[in-house]
Amino acid sequence: MIPFNATPALRVPGAPASALGAAAAVVALEDVGLTLASRAGAVEILKSVSFSIAGATSVAIVGPSGSGKTSLLMIMAGLERASRGKVHIVGQDFSALSEDQLALVRGRDIGIVFQSFHLVPTMTALENVALPLELAGRPDAFNVAAVRLAEVGLAARSQHFPAQLSGGEQQRVALARALAPKPKILFADEPTGNLDAATGTQVTELLFDLHRKSGTTLILVTHDLSLAARCQRIIRMSDGRVVEDGRPGSPLGSEH
Ligand SMILES: Nc1ncnc2c1ncn2[C@@H]1O[C@H](COP(=O)(O)OP(=O)(O)OP(=O)(O)O)[C@@H](O)[C@H]1O
Ligand SMILES: [Mg+2]
Repeated sequence: MIPFNATPALRVPGAPASALGAAAAVVALEDVGLTLASRAGAVEILKSVSFSIAGATSVAIVGPSGSGKTSLLMIMAGLERASRGKVHIVGQDFSALSEDQLALVRGRDIGIVFQSFHLVPTMTALENVALPLELAGRPDAFNVAAVRLAEVGLAARSQHFPAQLSGGEQQRVALARALAPKPKILFADEPTGNLDAATGTQVTELLFDLHRKSGTTLILVTHDLSLAARCQRIIRMSDGRVVEDGRPGSPLGSEH
């Protein structure tokens, strides 16, 4: 059982620099900014984002479309470089790592479920799930993959290619693949967004099961308020900033 006070007491945007000092934090962001070029000129997508996330906690990132949730997830997952600020993930300073080193950390410690599924089209469902395990040199890759696929209810679809699966089935394969190596942190962008209510519940249970049993830190971007409410902490983004940070049910965590 994880005590509620495992959540860092960081509540206001523009938090002080102490974020990097938080003990056992698996995510520590300090004054992170992201500026990208567009035809209309530079766009400031993230503006001075600072927070830390303690290990083995569950966090929902919410906010309107375009507020920067996916961009923030990409930076925390080491798939996008911050333009400014400090990004420390599982004790690693991401700005100091090469692309190869980042890929190693991702393969070892990080699971990612994207808004779009990113399955390899020429591989079967089973091969897709086994891929990260094979890359990690696991001799039991296919056995573990088969168990993970069964857990998301897709044992009967293991030999199907992504194009032969429905959207919800592809989402579940992507989830099984992200969960297979039992990562320290699982980042999921709208993990239930494409699913019907029953499958969504099943996927939610899987996520929280892994969180409870393996101590995986869950960081979920979601528009689903019932999913957000199950997390220990809700971070709300608006226009590239953190505007609220609190527990579900608290005045800060509640929906306006
Ligand atoms: N490569 C890019 N170049 C310029 N602007 C971008 C780029 N990628 C994203 N943006 C802009 O950054 C802002 C934040 O995008 P992001 O995808 O992070 O939003 P989001 O909160 O995940 O939204 P949604 O809920 O719709 O998925 C948006 O206004 C988007 O148009
Ligand atoms: Mg998004």
